[in-house]
Amino acid sequence: MSVKYIEDESKFVLETQNSLYVLQILYDKFPVHLYYGSKDDLSGLAYVNPYKSFSPYFEQYGINYSPDVGMAEYSYFGSGDFRVTPLRIKNKNGDSVTHFTYKAYRIFDGRCDLQGLPFAAADGNTQTLELILKDSVSGCEIGLYYTVFEKEDVISRYVRVTNNSDSPVKIEKLMSLMLDLPSCEYDMISLYGAHNAERNFQRVPLFHGVQSVMSRRGASSHQYNPFIAICDKKTTERQGDVYGFNFVYSGDFLDEVDVDQTGNTRIQIGLGSENFTWLLESGQSFMSPEAVMTYSSCGLGGMSSNFHRFVREHILPPEPFERRPVVLNTWEACYFNIDEREMLRFAKSAADAGIDMLVMDDGWFGARNNDKAGLGDWYVNRDKFKNGLKSFVDSVKAYGIKFGIWIEPEMVNPDSDLYRAHPDWCIRCAGRESTLSRNQLVLDMSNPKVLEYLKDSFAKSFDGVGIDYFKWDMNRHMSEVGSPALAPERQGETAYRYMLGVYDLYRWFNEHFPNAMIENCSGGGGRYDLGMMKYCTQIWTSDNTWPKKRMKIQYSSTLAYPPCVMSCHVSNPHNVCENPDELKYRWHVALNGPLGYEMHLPNASEIIKDTVKEQVKKYREYEHLILRGEFHRILSPFDSNYYAYYFTNAEHTEFLLSFEQSYGESPVKLTLSMPEAEVGTRYTDTVSGDEYSGRMLADGITIKTKEKDPYSVMWHFVRND
Ligand code: DGJ
Repeated sequence: MSVKYIEDESKFVLETQNSLYVLQILYDKFPVHLYYGSKDDLSGLAYVNPYKSFSPYFEQYGINYSPDVGMAEYSYFGSGDFRVTPLRIKNKNGDSVTHFTYKAYRIFDGRCDLQGLPFAAADGNTQTLELILKDSVSGCEIGLYYTVFEKEDVISRYVRVTNNSDSPVKIEKLMSLMLDLPSCEYDMISLYGAHNAERNFQRVPLFHGVQSVMSRRGASSHQYNPFIAICDKKTTERQGDVYGFNFVYSGDFLDEVDVDQTGNTRIQIGLGSENFTWLLESGQSFMSPEAVMTYSSCGLGGMSSNFHRFVREHILPPEPFERRPVVLNTWEACYFNIDEREMLRFAKSAADAGIDMLVMDDGWFGARNNDKAGLGDWYVNRDKFKNGLKSFVDSVKAYGIKFGIWIEPEMVNPDSDLYRAHPDWCIRCAGRESTLSRNQLVLDMSNPKVLEYLKDSFAKSFDGVGIDYFKWDMNRHMSEVGSPALAPERQGETAYRYMLGVYDLYRWFNEHFPNAMIENCSGGGGRYDLGMMKYCTQIWTSDNTWPKKRMKIQYSSTLAYPPCVMSCHVSNPHNVCENPDELKYRWHVALNGPLGYEMHLPNASEIIKDTVKEQVKKYREYEHLILRGEFHRILSPFDSNYYAYYFTNAEHTEFLLSFEQSYGESPVKLTLSMPEAEVGTRYTDTVSGDEYSGRMLADGITIKTKEKDPYSVMWHFVRND
């Protein structure tokens, strides 16, 4: 049982393999937070009320309880809690004050379905605690949900609002998770960036006041990732307390951290509220997206491995193929200059190199000869593919490889047949000019007619064609957010309804093309989030394939997400790199996730072709570790010019260790240790043939860096039996 109720103390205990979460119902009314952390002796655990002058209280309880101080489970705008609060509902009287008190609880196996949203799948161990609270003036009820994923040390949180009054109310803010911690001696880790430079690592001490990361772009974005962590100041990769948080949603989000007057820290994760309101009619319910949290006492590495296991077991779709395809993608080599003849040259060169799949990127449809036209017209361009898509795909497959294709369903160019026929199918505000980005507008995915059109067009173009893989791109953010299909009082629902439409289309793709996989992309890693991971086997990590930058992006991505989703390509688009050593370096950097190539392979020299062939073959020896192994970081490229990490299998009989240097400097000695190696046994490095004792690997092998670039080393240790 991972959820228990201790009746005589009105306490609920949520237990995972290595963590405990305890809450209590105080005075039969107020759900207060008592504890989240390791499995310590918790006898005597009690609510602390750090009352301060000026803090409001209720006459019946005096200063023993104030909504303004102490640790709560969830809070509400306007009734005495002056910190950031997760819920604001405007009632029929026109004010936005609520005050919810405890009504009932329920513990059940499994979890709730989230009405059209992505959410973590339950397994046989999953249990959920539901707390029902009510507010008598607005007539609303809320359900607070805690779903416990015992083995992965993850607890997920979501909230249902039900309007039991006889008039509509407006939800103005609804966060999925609130957590109060009894200290502020923490650092906060967040990932910031830009297109081509996603997920930079930032670790800063918490300060008094509110610190936040968010997106108001209609996408989780390149600029901030929904993942954050709060950790002790001394926490390292392997040691120390850390709380990790994430959000299973791909649109606007808000992560808020508020250090209050008593030195407590409040963390909130949920929907961004600047582009969100929801009109809740009498008798209706609204369910928030899901937020997840994990606790580890084993440092950032412990947090990451909890999240990696959680994403693999409960978020990602089933693998569609027996083995993940190594792809040859045409974008960097061809841009829009594609046609059947050229693509078949690519297909042949892919097959010759042992690559599993050709991915034909942008430029195959409508009048798409550059990025100014064609988006929305999802039919093959007959000038480029005279006999149509099916005949071309058959010819690709005749080489014995799979075929993938690029799409950008959510977008439209004003210069397209679709836009000319339906200018009102875009996100836009009445009477206002819409701004362009990459010459395109955003389709109104909240409009069922748009979804119907897209499903119809994709079915017409792709049914029976044998497509194995879709690269689903999304290349602009939302501005002038409004929907011509929604009434004025519902305009604030546009961005959220847009995401529901996007998820609906993703589900349709998963169901309509059950034998195909989806690679998610938003100009690279602009929607690198748990919502997208529900439907997509992997994500194009970044448009930046330059190894020195890529290793940073990859390092940070592994904090919250498993390497098996992190699509990594060796890039050499115009065969400028003729040096096999440089290509080896790029390949080493790419071995952090599922492998692919961005290069003009048909035009490459024989030596490069042979190198690629050898690399693909070698990757096959390691892919079980890269896609399914445990992952451990050793050196951060944000701390020095080096990135080092290793993969190992569950039995620790195999280790794939990687060291990459980003810029050469005076040689230094570094030690790379793999504490899981079995002391008392011996391992052979299959790369060099050298033998090492388990003790040496556990204590660390010492290497000397080089002054010259490019420099990287890889070892593949296999235990001698
Ligand atoms: C942005 C993607 O990130 C690229 O890989 C490529 O697919 C282009 N879009 C195509 O327009």
